[in-house]
Amino acid sequence: MNRLNLENHLASLADLDGTLRTLLLSVAQSCTRISAAVARGALGGVLGSLESENVQGEVQKKLDVLSNNLLIESNERNGCLAAMASEEMDTLYPIPDDCERGPYLLLFDPLDGSSNIDVNVSIGTIFSILRAPGSQPAQESDFLQAGTQQVAAGYAVYGPQTMLVLTLGQGVVGFTLDPDSQEWVMTHPHITIPADTAEFAINMSNMRHWEAPVRRYIEDCLTGDTGPLGKNYNMRWIASMVADVHRILMRGGLFMYPRDARASGKKGKLRLMYEANPMSMLVEQAGGAAIDGHIRILEAQPDELHQRIGVILGSRNEVERVKRYHQED
Ligand code: AHG
Ligand code: MN
Ligand code: MN
Ligand code: MN
Repeated sequence: MNRLNLENHLASLADLDGTLRTLLLSVAQSCTRISAAVARGALGGVLGSLESENVQGEVQKKLDVLSNNLLIESNERNGCLAAMASEEMDTLYPIPDDCERGPYLLLFDPLDGSSNIDVNVSIGTIFSILRAPGSQPAQESDFLQAGTQQVAAGYAVYGPQTMLVLTLGQGVVGFTLDPDSQEWVMTHPHITIPADTAEFAINMSNMRHWEAPVRRYIEDCLTGDTGPLGKNYNMRWIASMVADVHRILMRGGLFMYPRDARASGKKGKLRLMYEANPMSMLVEQAGGAAIDGHIRILEAQPDELHQRIGVILGSRNEVERVKRYHQED
């Protein structure tokens, strides 16, 4: 029996739209190319920063722009898309007139965890797929759909192994890139998140900016098994959302990048459309939960392409616990 790979897995999904299958294979191919560039690192001259800043006000890394361009180049001619949008581009990228258009919108964070690029720590690519509402040519407002409208979401994590983790709304599947054959081999056919955890991920250096419920929850976590939560918590923070979320999909946990109590950070750091929404779909499809502190992230109604949102996601029972801290306020 041939081993299952991305191609024959997607082919086995009888009700999968052929254009969506083509798009998913095209995005996976992009991630194969990004993985090769990441693996070369200094040998490929891809480390370090550029002079430019992106729409987020971040100094762009060479790999941010290289990954963005690889995704544009690999997907603009596949006949599946009306437009694309990226963390690294101010506004939408309409499919050029000389390219065949298609019914989908592709959004991505081409390189997530940029602060880890130059220190050889896991980074990734996050993507989200929506249906284009049909207006030709596409406009920015076409992208402003709630996360529940996503037809697919996934990420590639460039770590000790390169993996692709994908959901089409019927569970979560993981593939490992075979470095010899460059094939995405199915290694995790049914990813589920344990409902309970004693491991949280948060950037503790921001504690002074947290809203009271987050501060109370973390303070209780730190009291150990004699405290109100009755367990000794462990902490992790990789500062690549893809790597932190992958760990949670593999063994459970809670990831928090909460809203900031200051007006300047009121909506949080992470971007709704191409970080929070795709990760929330994956986490929910794996049996976890994802909220901004109060509402389900997937139900947030976007009003701008690069808007930010507070993120609390992971093991369902722990997210419910944090939600109760917010309800006490
Ligand atoms: P990006 O590199 O795409 O801008 O995203 C970085 C994000 C996310 O990956 C990570 O969880 C978070 O920033 C880390 O933020 P801090 O550096 O403030 O901890
Ligand atoms: Mn990111
Ligand atoms: Mn990024
Ligand atoms: Mn960035």
